[in-house]
Amino acid sequence: MRRVVCPGSFDPVTNGHLDVIARASKLYDEVVVAVLINQSKKGLFTVDERLELLRDVTKEFGNIDVQSFTGLIVDFCRERDIPAIIKGLRAVSDFDYELQMAQMNNSLSGVETLFVATSPLYSFLSSSLVKEVAAYGGDVSGLVPAAVLDRLRDKLGHA
Ligand code: PNS
Repeated sequence: MRRVVCPGSFDPVTNGHLDVIARASKLYDEVVVAVLINQSKKGLFTVDERLELLRDVTKEFGNIDVQSFTGLIVDFCRERDIPAIIKGLRAVSDFDYELQMAQMNNSLSGVETLFVATSPLYSFLSSSLVKEVAAYGGDVSGLVPAAVLDRLRDKLGHA
């Protein structure tokens, strides 16, 4: 069985993430979406909420397993015997840091990183900007799945 890990903070999952996960799901038998538990950074959504939203919006693909993790992503991959990580690249500005992480992860454990070019529809999209725009009452309805929009409305009063 060919498996790949798609790691991230997913605070919250956006249509850009979903595009990458959907494309990975066509290339692999199973995609493990790995949500980082970051003790030093308080998110808008709890890790449990992120997991629940991710499970909800990826259930239609049929081959997505959503998990949380702490520590190094390479340890998560090693423990599950998964040889590759998949990431979306939105723009050249993502490239430097992503290349650095890919090289570090490869040197730590031999894990490979594959990049998919994000759809231009979502090249400007990030969870942080979605939260900021939504917090000030901007319309993010085309940028996140409907379930996320509902939860943003619950949390912020509007979205
Ligand atoms: O959605 P994000 O916040 O851009 O995702 C970043 C993430 C979670 C993929 C990255 O920070 C990560 O892999 N963190 C786990 C800790 C780790 O392995 N750090 C070394 C990376 S070289």
